[in-house]
Order: sequence, then structure tokens, then C-alpha cells
Amino acid sequence: MVSSSSIVLGFAVAMCVVVADDTCRYAPSFSTNDIATNESVRTTFLEVHASMEKYFMLYAGLDPTTQMTRDGHPLSIETGKLFGEPHMFSAPSKESVHVAMLCKVLEKTSSVANQTYSIADALDVLEAKVTSFEAFGKAFPGFGGFFPWVAYDGNGSVAPTWDWQNRVPALDNGELFWAAFAVSFVLNETEYRIAKPGLAERWTHVWKNMVRNAVTVFYAGNGNFRTVTNIANQSWPVENNTYTGAPGYLNDPYEGELFTVFVYLFNEDLNSTEKELLWINKRAMLQSVNLTVPHCGNKSSEHCPTPTITNITVQRGFWFSAHEQWKYLMLPYQDSPTNRRVFLNGERARTWYARMQRAPGLWASVNGPIPNDNVSFPYFSDCGVPPVAFENVTHDDVITPYGMFPLFLASPPHGAAWLHHMILNRKGQNCYGTTESFNVTGTDIAPLVTWDSKITTLAATSGGLAETNKRILRSLGKYEPFVSVIENEWARVFPEPVLSGSDLDFVFPEYDLPQILEDFTSCSATSAACVY
Ligand SMILES: *[C@@H]1O[C@H](CO)[C@@H](O)[C@H](O)[C@H]1NC(C)=O
Ligand SMILES: *[C@@H]1O[C@H](CO)[C@@H](O)[C@H](O)[C@H]1NC(C)=O
Ligand SMILES: *[C@@H]1O[C@H](CO)[C@@H](O)[C@H](O)[C@H]1NC(C)=O
Ligand SMILES: *[C@@H]1O[C@H](CO)[C@@H](O)[C@H](O)[C@H]1NC(C)=O
Ligand SMILES: *[C@@H]1O[C@H](CO)[C@@H](O)[C@H](O)[C@H]1NC(C)=O
Ligand SMILES: *[C@@H]1O[C@H](CO)[C@@H](O)[C@H](O)[C@H]1NC(C)=O
Ligand SMILES: *[C@@H]1O[C@H](CO)[C@@H](O)[C@H](O)[C@H]1NC(C)=O
Ligand SMILES: *[C@@H]1O[C@H](CO)[C@@H](O)[C@H](O)[C@H]1NC(C)=O
Ligand SMILES: *[C@@H]1O[C@H](CO)[C@@H](O)[C@H](O)[C@H]1NC(C)=O
Ligand SMILES: *[C@@H]1O[C@H](CO)[C@@H](O)[C@H](O)[C@H]1NC(C)=O
Ligand SMILES: *[C@@H]1O[C@H](CO)[C@@H](O)[C@H](O)[C@H]1NC(C)=O
Ligand SMILES: *[C@@H]1O[C@H](CO)[C@@H](O)[C@H](O)[C@H]1NC(C)=O
Repeated sequence: MVSSSSIVLGFAVAMCVVVADDTCRYAPSFSTNDIATNESVRTTFLEVHASMEKYFMLYAGLDPTTQMTRDGHPLSIETGKLFGEPHMFSAPSKESVHVAMLCKVLEKTSSVANQTYSIADALDVLEAKVTSFEAFGKAFPGFGGFFPWVAYDGNGSVAPTWDWQNRVPALDNGELFWAAFAVSFVLNETEYRIAKPGLAERWTHVWKNMVRNAVTVFYAGNGNFRTVTNIANQSWPVENNTYTGAPGYLNDPYEGELFTVFVYLFNEDLNSTEKELLWINKRAMLQSVNLTVPHCGNKSSEHCPTPTITNITVQRGFWFSAHEQWKYLMLPYQDSPTNRRVFLNGERARTWYARMQRAPGLWASVNGPIPNDNVSFPYFSDCGVPPVAFENVTHDDVITPYGMFPLFLASPPHGAAWLHHMILNRKGQNCYGTTESFNVTGTDIAPLVTWDSKITTLAATSGGLAETNKRILRSLGKYEPFVSVIENEWARVFPEPVLSGSDLDFVFPEYDLPQILEDFTSCSATSAACVY
């Protein structure tokens, strides 16, 4: 596949960049309190954060021949330098945050996103990426424009990974849909139409193809979309294929909803009864639950002999992992007054639970810590807030910087403070930005960099795509139908005009991770500068 000469040039330039150690290990030069209370300090902190995440986006996390994301890259536990091989595979969820960042650059409204790509480079990357998407679609027409987990050969080929042959997931494609949707409209602005004629149309095709084929590929009848579909033969065209699947439907009221929403708003094959069923089928999992917290006003219960007990009413999480809130990066859910109340209380609960656990950080599904240099990591899905989750949460003893991304969308001062607090930890930063995860005991970290644990955060601090997609949906007459169905579904379960617990503030970080480890030698207060 093609990568244009300017990308090759951009890459070569990046390779020569030297980043001073005080930039690499920037967290100690900020105070959490200043980040929380002073907007100008906070903005500077987030800009510096973005300027380091850039090296992941442009290098460690990217397949240069296709300009598609690589899931991640292990680091040496001692030096923090790249270790082993890059993950020569990825998924549409990673593409969703990459495309979101490129879109934010083109929108020019975020000084944070501006630290990553130049406009010209963002356009080139979008062109190379959609070329790779198209080549994949041509080679594997059975996917109907959706993507499985894909593998690269380093020479420009993109193919399903061995375990995703003839199979495709819905959830991640819903995430990619809304980034492709947003960028297709931004690319259609006059300046970009002139710079890259036809590119808007190519990105429009990406999401329209998903709209066209969603029912054929994933629909199981009765308002049910399969979470994973089996394809008779991925090399055959959609019209000439059959799609089946084990029972397992996309009935979650979390991030899987990004798929439901695009079908609901744009599909023209399902009738209104079936479209209503899409939402009815999610109702069983849309539940109200309380986190019971002892407190002294807005302070910890330790501050008074007889604490007050308050219930924070939230939507029950699967694990209550921050990952479940991906949809808030993409769509204006917060414009539904009820959904917004519930969302804010959820983030309140996340921070109050951290206080109750004396936790030094927040939780999300993540690669877990390891004791030595290694290229394989245990994956802990079950990280979250046990009292308000459906599933058992066995890993609330592993924290990750991106646990704060939904909190940032709820309250930037709190979100940024938690981000700073977590990456301040030893080995919390490396030459590619923030580090994957930490044991709360302070004994171990996951020496790894991934899109999930890093660029969800960056997408949030860049402003996300909710406002962008709001503007576009409004121009298409789809904004009201979206807000109204979300308001309707959430108001059924949360009818109270004021949710219990909403008078509690979000909590700032209070507890420190034991600083047992040393910093990565390539990113410490005294290290030589990072060279790429
Ligand atoms: C916020 O920080 C900036 C930069 O350090 C400083 O100039 C300004 O005085 C601070 N504002 C307040 C209110 O402290
Ligand atoms: C982002 O960069 C563009 C130029 O690339 C500039 O026009 C725009 O004002 C910048 N936006 C912000 C918020 O700094
Ligand atoms: C990639 O290209 C290089 C150089 O042309 C070649 O040596 C290598 O075998 C190729 N790898 C694959 C997996 O095709
Ligand atoms: C791009 O904008 C023009 C109007 O400026 C419109 O006619 C066209 O349909 C748009 N194309 C896409 C792909 O959105
Ligand atoms: C799938 O179709 C391709 C092209 O028609 C064919 O070469 C291949 O053998 C088929 N695979 C299976 C498992 O039927
Ligand atoms: C269509 O599907 C049939 C099997 O149902 C297969 O034999 C045939 O090769 C396919 N044709 C194309 C053009 O892929
Ligand atoms: C909607 O479609 C379903 C499935 O095809 C069908 O059973 C139902 O009768 C249709 N309802 C209406 C109101 O057309
Ligand atoms: C949550 O707590 C509030 C306040 O105590 C109570 O009114 C509500 O019924 C509780 N909700 C659930 C689902 O238990
Ligand atoms: C909190 O909610 C639970 C049910 O979720 C209820 O049993 C309990 O009484 C409530 N506590 C307070 C203080 O409202
Ligand atoms: C917490 O502080 C806010 C102001 O930041 C105040 O409105 C609220 O009443 C306080 N909550 C409690 C329980 O004291
Ligand atoms: C870190 O803590 C987790 C959770 O307790 C545990 O599973 C893991 O073994 C620990 N990591 C190491 C490297 O010991
Ligand atoms: C949670 O763990 C307990 C004890 O191991 C088990 O009995 C229960 O079935 C588990 N619950 C879920 C939802 O997996």
C-alpha cells in the first residue's frame, strides 16, 4: 500500500527529534494543585502531555507502511526504551481514537490536538489510512466495510489476524463509525476539499458502507445485532455471503451503543418497530444502583466521628471500567439532561470509591503489571468499581492513567489532576508518553504503551468528538432523534429530577502510590534526552 512521500519525510524528521529529559519527564515540574485550580497551568500541562503522546502516535503505535494503528509496543522495564517487537496488529477501536485525533487537528479548535500533527501531515495520514482501508475492503469484501482485528506484515499488507478469520465484531466498528463520520464532514470543508480533492468522499464511503451492510452482516432479527458475526467466506462479496453467529447480542447500554445509534439514525431497512426493539433489548442492562458513601460534607469520613451516609445513584456498570464510557468521546450524550445527570454521578462515584479504597488512581480494563522484561502481559478486563458493577471486579488493585478520561469529560480540573497524579509515579512516563498501568502496591508496572491506555485520554483532553458530531447530526436533522431516544431510555430508569449524591463534589486524588521503583532510565530527572 502507498504511503505518500511527505509521510515518509515526516517520519524521517520525527526520527531525528531530540526531546530534552525535562520534557520527557514533565510531570514533576507541575503541581497537581496548580493543574486543578489554574486553567492556564492545566492547559500547559495537557499540551505538554500531548506533545509526548505524539511519539506514540507517530512512531511506536503506528504501522508506517499503512498509516494504520499498531495496538501497542512493549518497553524495557529498566530503561523504558522500546523492547521486543511492536504489536503488528490492531482493531477498529484503536483506529477510532486515531481518526478522532486527526479530526481534532483538522478542526483547529484544540491547542492540545495541535501538539500532535500538522494539518498537512494529518491530511496525508488520512489519505494513506483510507487507502489501506480500501485495500482491505477489496481483499476481504466479505467484511462489508467493517474491520476485524487486523495484522500487518510490515510491507503494507493488512489482513484479519489468525483468530479473526471470517469473523467480525460489532462494538469496535461502532466506535470507528463515529470518528469516520466526523472526519468525512470536516474534510468536506472548502480548505480541505481544495487540499485533498475526493478525500471527503472516500471517508464518507467508509461510514456509508457500514450503514449499508450493518443489517446484512450483523442483524439477527427482533432488534438484535450480533456482537460477533461469522462470515461464510471473507473473500466473497457481501451479496454472495452468509452471516451467522453464536447467540450473543449487542444489548449493552455502554460503548456498544455507538453501533446501535448509527443503525437507529441511518439505516433504512429496519422498520420503526424493529428500531424501537433495539432500545427495548438494552433495557435489562440499564439499571440504577447506589454506591453508598460515608462522608463529612465534601470531605472524607475520617474528618468526623459520625459520618453522614449518602447514596450516589449511578447506572450499573459492567465492571464500571472507564473503557465503558467510550461513547461520551463520540456523541453528545450529555445533551440529554437525564443521561448527563447519570454520567456525572457515575464519575462522582468513581472518585468517591477511590477515596474509600484509599486508591492512588482510577480503573479501566488494561494490560496488567509484570515483574520482568517480557512481551506478553496479562489482560485484566475486570477493573472497575465492584459495588456498582454487574460482574466481579478482581483487579481494582491495578490502576491506569486512562481511568480518568470520562472524569475529564465530566470535570476537566478533576480529570487532569488524576492524570497528573498517576503519571507522577515512578516509571509513569517514558519517551512515548504515559505508561500502561501500575499495581497499587507500588511494586510493579506494565512496561507497555497502547492506544487504549493513552489516546482515549488524549482524545478526551483534545475535546472529543461529541460537539463535532452534534453539529453534523444537527445539520442532517438527526440530532433531535438522538437526544430524544437517549433521554427517553434514561428517564425510564432515572425519573428523579435530582439524583441522590449529586450534591457531593468530585474528589481530587489524595493517596500516593508507594514510590518503590526507580524511573525509567531513559525518562528520569537526570536521563539523557529521548532520541527518536
Ligand atoms: C495561573 O498560572 C499562571 C502561569 O503560571 C500565572 O501566571 C497566573 O498568575 C496563575 N493564576 C492564578 C489565579 O494564580
Ligand atoms: C491550531 O493550529 C492551527 C494551525 O495549524 C491554528 O490555526 C489554530 O488557531 C490552532 N488552534 C488553537 C486552539 O490553538
Ligand atoms: C517485506 O519486504 C522485504 C523487502 O522487500 C522482504 O525482504 C520481506 O521478506 C518482506 N516481508 C514480507 C512478510 O513479505
Ligand atoms: C460536501 O459539501 C458540498 C457542499 O459544499 C455538498 O454538496 C456535498 O454533498 C458534501 N459532500 C460530502 C461527502 O459530504
Ligand atoms: C473462500 O473463497 C476463496 C475465493 O473464492 C477460495 O479461494 C477459498 O478457498 C474459500 N475458502 C473457503 C474456506 O471456502
Ligand atoms: C459465491 O458463493 C459461492 C458459494 O455460495 C461460491 O462458490 C462462489 O465462488 C462465490 N462467488 C464469488 C464471486 O465470490
Ligand atoms: C417490521 O418488521 C418485522 C420483521 O420484518 C415484521 O415482523 C413486522 O411486521 C414489521 N412491522 C411493521 C409495523 O411493519
Ligand atoms: C438509591 O438511594 C436513594 C436514596 O437513598 C433511594 O431513594 C433509591 O431508591 C436508591 N436506589 C436504588 C436503586 O436502590
Ligand atoms: C441507600 O440505598 C440502599 C438501596 O440501594 C438502601 O437500602 C439504603 O437505605 C440507602 N441508604 C441511604 C442512606 O439512603
Ligand atoms: C460540596 O461542595 C459544594 C460546592 O462545591 C456544595 O454545593 C455542596 O453542598 C457540598 N456538599 C456537601 C455534601 O456538603
Ligand atoms: C500486581 O497486582 C495484581 C493484582 O493483585 C497481581 O495479579 C499481579 O500479580 C501483580 N503483579 C506482579 C508483577 O506481581
Ligand atoms: C462472583 O464471584 C463469586 C465468588 O467467586 C461467584 O459466586 C459469583 O458467581 C461471581 N459472580 C459473577 C457475576 O461472575
